[in-house]
Amino acid sequence: MPVPATALCLILVLFSTRNAGGVCLAPNKITFPALFAFGDSIVDTGNNNKRFTIAKANIPPYGRDFPGGAATGRFGNGKVFSDLLAEGLRIKPLLPAYLHPVLQGEDLETGVSFASGGSGFDEFTVKLQEKANATISKSLFLVSQGNNDIAITYFLFHFLYDIDAYTTQLVNSASSFIKDMYELGARKFACLSLIPLGYLPISRTFGGGFQRNSVDWLTQAAVKFNSKLEHELNHLNSNLPGTRILYIDIYNPLVDLIQNHKKYGFEDSSHGCCGTGLIELNYGCNELLSSFTCCNSSSHVFWDAGHPSERAYRMIISQLVHNISHQLLDI
Ligand SMILES: *[C@@H]1O[C@H](CO)[C@@H](O)[C@H](O)[C@H]1NC(C)=O
Ligand SMILES: *[C@@H]1O[C@H](CO)[C@@H](O)[C@H](O)[C@H]1NC(C)=O
Ligand SMILES: *[C@@H]1O[C@H](CO)[C@@H](O)[C@H](O)[C@H]1NC(C)=O
Repeated sequence: MPVPATALCLILVLFSTRNAGGVCLAPNKITFPALFAFGDSIVDTGNNNKRFTIAKANIPPYGRDFPGGAATGRFGNGKVFSDLLAEGLRIKPLLPAYLHPVLQGEDLETGVSFASGGSGFDEFTVKLQEKANATISKSLFLVSQGNNDIAITYFLFHFLYDIDAYTTQLVNSASSFIKDMYELGARKFACLSLIPLGYLPISRTFGGGFQRNSVDWLTQAAVKFNSKLEHELNHLNSNLPGTRILYIDIYNPLVDLIQNHKKYGFEDSSHGCCGTGLIELNYGCNELLSSFTCCNSSSHVFWDAGHPSERAYRMIISQLVHNISHQLLDI
C-alpha cells in the first residue's frame, strides 16, 4: 500500500493541473489517519478564542475569506497553514481547533489543532494518551514553534537576551516536545521553520525605519534558530528509533514570495492587507479600522501585520505536501 501511494503522488505532482495549485493530493484512503498540530498561530485554528491571550483573531475582518466569512480565531483571512496541509493531504478540508465548542468525536479521530496563538503547548497530552495506539504512530504531528518567542519576546526584550543562548533554549524546548510526543507513540513529525520574522509588516513598522526596510537582527535571529532547529531534528532522527522527522523550510519560500512578489501576482509584500501594526491591536486588524482593509487579500503576501495571507500559504504548500507524503507516508 505505501509504495503505490508514493508512486501515485509523484504522478499527480507531474501531471496535476497548475490551476489546482499543483498540490499533490494523496489519493483517498492512502494518507495519514490524522493530523495533529501544535504550537503557534501559524497552525492555530481557533484555540486562542478560549484562552487568555493578548492577540485575538475572532473579530472581523479576520476570516473574511473563510467559508461563511466567519472569524473563527484563525490568524488569517481564510484558511491557515494547518488547514491547507490537512486539505492537501486529503485528510479533511479544515483542521478543527481542539477547543472548538462543537468538536465532534470523529473530529478528534482525524486530527485537531492543539496550537494556540500567543501561547505554547502543554496539558494536552492526556487526550493523546487516551488515543495512544496504532493510529498515533501513523498520524502526522505538525509543529510550529518559536515565532511568538522571537517576534514578540525577543523583539521587545532583546537587550536582555543573548540570541545564541536564547535560540538554543527555544530549540531545546522544541526538541523536548518531540521527545514527549515520541514517548506517547508519535513517530511522524513535520516541524516548520520560523517564518521570515525580519520581513513581517510589524517588524518593518517598528524596526525598519522610514523606508520600512526589513530588520536585519531579527532576520539573523530567525536564520540562527532555523539552522539550529534543522540540526537538532537531524540529531533526533538518528536517535529516536523508528521515527521520521522532517524539517520543513517555509522561511526561504516565503522570502522568495516577499522579494519577488510581483512575479507571483502579489501587489504588496511589506504591508498587511488589514494593517501594519502601527495603530491597531491584534497584529494589525481591528474592527473599527476594518474599513481600511485592502479589497483583495490575495494581492498581499501578508494578511495582517504578522501573518501570511491564505494565498501566500497556498503558494508555498504544494511542494511541501508532496515532500511530506513522499517522505513520511511510507514508514
Ligand atoms: C485506536 O484509536 C482509534 C481512534 O481513537 C480507534 O478508532 C481504534 O479503535 C483504536 N484501536 C485500538 C486497537 O485501540
Ligand atoms: C485578487 O488578486 C489575485 C492575485 O493577484 C487575482 O488573481 C484575483 O483575480 C483578484 N481578485 C479580484 C476579485 O480582483
Ligand atoms: C523537498 O524535498 C527535496 C528533497 O529532499 C528538497 O530538495 C526540497 O527542498 C524539498 N522542498 C521543500 C519545499 O521542502
